[in-house]
Amino acid sequence: MTMTSRHTTEWIKYLAVALICALVAIDGIGLVMANTTRTSGQQMEDSTTDVPRLVIKSDSVASRLGGYHGILAFLHNFAVPALLADGEIVAFFGNLTVTPDDIEQCLAMMLDHDLGGSSPHSGAVVESGHKCRGSMPKIHKGRNIPDRTISRFIQIISEQAALAGVSKADIKAIAKALEQNRAGIRNK
Ligand code: HEM
Repeated sequence: MTMTSRHTTEWIKYLAVALICALVAIDGIGLVMANTTRTSGQQMEDSTTDVPRLVIKSDSVASRLGGYHGILAFLHNFAVPALLADGEIVAFFGNLTVTPDDIEQCLAMMLDHDLGGSSPHSGAVVESGHKCRGSMPKIHKGRNIPDRTISRFIQIISEQAALAGVSKADIKAIAKALEQNRAGIRNK
């Protein structure tokens, strides 16, 4: 065998290996796409088309909402303005013992925690120095918040989450997390 033909054989070998790698890579991506379509039940529930997605789904509601900071931004920009624009809700927000910022930050942490995030449920010290309380009856004591106002509160937050582009499944999870506090808040 001449030098040139030996080199040609070597190059053919390299090309064959490269071709196999390329095929495996393409097939791998195909597999990921197929799996995403089949297994992301929640996402596909809301989707009207069967277009495969390359974005791998985050595994907790909190992470999909952007964790503590995403939830805080949602509360500040969407939920709180809508809540305070509602006559029935705003009537209960007089004589505050903490600032609206404290309420937003403590509620954002509580929600992040309850939706699978890394924030503590309560006890954290926020920017102002306020320490978030955990007891719903104590926080809402003396406010006499009726059942229907709690429902309205949850409904407004859900509506705002929909406007902010949160998926139906995640809105359900947010409403459920809020709902769990109903008995501790009602008529205290
Ligand atoms: C449904 C679920 C609810 C949750 C999870 C929740 C949670 C919280 C949290 C975490 C705080 C801040 C606590 C702190 O200062 O450390 C807070 C404060 C407050 N919440 Fe709620 N809340 C809920 C519903 C409501 C409703 C329906 C109303 C009234 C319509 C309300 C009225 C208030 C008021 C007035 C404060 C401030 C209390 C104060 O100044 O001492 N909350 N809430």
